[in-house]
Amino acid sequence: MTSALPVIDVGDLPNATPGRAEVARRIGEACRAHGFFYVIGHGVPSELMAQLEALSRRFFALDEATKLQWRMALGGRAWRGYFPLGGELTSGRPDWKEGLYLGAELPDEHPLVRAGTPVHGRNLFPEVPGLRDTVLAYMAAVTRLGHRLMEGVALSLALPPDYFAARYTADPLILFRLFNYPSRPVPEGSDAQWGVGEHSDYGLLTILLQDDVGGLQVKTPDGWIEAPPIPGSFVCNIGDMLDRMTGGLYRSTPHRVAINRSGRDRLSFPLFFDPNFFSRVQRVEGLAGAPFGPAPGRPKRPELPSGDGAEGAQGSSFIDDSAERWDRANVHAFHGRYGDYLLDKVGKVFPALRGQVL
Ligand code: OGA
Ligand code: NI
Repeated sequence: MTSALPVIDVGDLPNATPGRAEVARRIGEACRAHGFFYVIGHGVPSELMAQLEALSRRFFALDEATKLQWRMALGGRAWRGYFPLGGELTSGRPDWKEGLYLGAELPDEHPLVRAGTPVHGRNLFPEVPGLRDTVLAYMAAVTRLGHRLMEGVALSLALPPDYFAARYTADPLILFRLFNYPSRPVPEGSDAQWGVGEHSDYGLLTILLQDDVGGLQVKTPDGWIEAPPIPGSFVCNIGDMLDRMTGGLYRSTPHRVAINRSGRDRLSFPLFFDPNFFSRVQRVEGLAGAPFGPAPGRPKRPELPSGDGAEGAQGSSFIDDSAERWDRANVHAFHGRYGDYLLDKVGKVFPALRGQVL
């Protein structure tokens, strides 16, 4: 199957060669046009990708009572563990998927964990032999790719390659998920309409591995298009914070996953490469062509989570695109720490857990 979304070979990205500028140019083009692109030539070993898929299949094949031994309610503030079918609500409705929430592995003695920082801590690794080591190796490899892709994004904006690393991602927030979209039909009376309902991602860059079943769909000005599986590739898409930083030049495009009717379970593996939890998200100064730049003379708009009011020279008179957004949020009015933005979102998709762990 082919896709309208570009496939970019990023093999030249690590090198200071003329090829690097061309990769960056293509990334920039994709971020402006779709906010979505495939990457190949990424350097993540195909054996690691295959191993992750095989071991995850083994995990999801366990019966539900067994999987619930590692349920999210036991993950505490680290926000880790298993959630069953219908347990996550995107856009306010249950998704027809189950999943295991993971992230950067931090020991209990880590200062941020001791301080009770949300979404930081230990993983709840299921007892599937090899899964722990594979997940850790996979997260490390894809995080390296994330750093490299963000260098490409920076170059595509005519910024120094370390622009994002210097401000946001020296110590990125890494969240990772194993998802299973089961072939099992939605039961009579269930509210589920999508594998994942329409949403945009919250952070900088999502790097998604999907198996060969398909079902991911991307919203374009001309309607929804498929992002079909391309063997050996990752699907990358930019999140709300990159939209915010670029003043809407790079859009965090809504996407969704159809209910799986293929007769086979569909697995997917999104890794979210996001700003450090404590970093304050700022607009990139002086970007040419950004549609949501400061608009002098426009009335002030209400702020999203209050942050500390440190708005600086950026003010809050930004053009509001919230009416067009899936969540009606005005990301361009957001000031504060990335963690505040994230927690506000996460609390909405797991309402039952919110009171328990945050
Ligand atoms: C997500 C997402 C798509 C998929 O987790 O944010 O959009 O194919 N996932 O699982
Ligand atoms: Ni998403």
